[in-house]
Amino acid sequence: MKGKLIAIEGPDGSGKTTQIELLKEYFLKNNYEIICTREPGGTDISEKIRDIILDNNNSKMSSMCESLLYAASRAQLVNEVIKPAILEGKVVICDRFITSSIVYQGIARNLGIERIKGINECAVDGLKVDLTILISLDYEEGLKRKAKQKKLDRLESSGSEFHKKVFEGYMSAPMFCDDIKVIDGNRSISDIHNDILSEIKKILV
Ligand code: ADP
Ligand code: TYD
Repeated sequence: MKGKLIAIEGPDGSGKTTQIELLKEYFLKNNYEIICTREPGGTDISEKIRDIILDNNNSKMSSMCESLLYAASRAQLVNEVIKPAILEGKVVICDRFITSSIVYQGIARNLGIERIKGINECAVDGLKVDLTILISLDYEEGLKRKAKQKKLDRLESSGSEFHKKVFEGYMSAPMFCDDIKVIDGNRSISDIHNDILSEIKKILV
């Protein structure tokens, strides 16, 4: 089988990490060769970039600097992990990918969708996502869940105006992102899991 790249997207706290853990369990049990990774991060270099981006002390970071750091983290992850895995026929599940940059930096930080797409074309060097799953959940509910779980990072602390734009950006994502499936995140963890799994199975035939 040809390798596949699946991105799991959604606002902060929408349940991406929870769902990826369940997918990992399912695919390992069913003998798929699967790699789960995350953005920003997923390699030693990319995790260092992640720390810089999310550090609450970096309040002076410009939106363009932020965009380029996300793209730099992505370029390393694609080169070191994702492309080699796809070439070996593995399924790669990534917690966030380019759609996050389009929504957070392109739309919510007002840098523009086309500009962010351009930066990221260089970063991913021709790699295409086979399926994007978008877990849709209102930003207020997501941030409430997140605040219960941990101290909020720099992006999560960007204010409700910003997160409202992120949410609206995600809702318009099917207009600029191919092969995206929207899943209602306001349900039980197992219902969401079953819907995600049935979408993924369609592309693994
Ligand atoms: P994300 O990775 O999208 O930020 P997480 O998977 O870390 O989200 O989930 C954020 C919090 O919400 C966690 O405490 C998790 O247990 C909880 N959670 C995840 N999915 C659901 C759900 N469907 N209903 C209620 N709580 C959930
Ligand atoms: P993540 O760890 O997935 O946060 P969460 O678990 O809260 O969903 O992602 C870190 C933050 O980085 C998150 O607030 C979204 C943001 N982000 C961007 O702004 N642009 C990007 O390209 C990516 C990948 C993430």
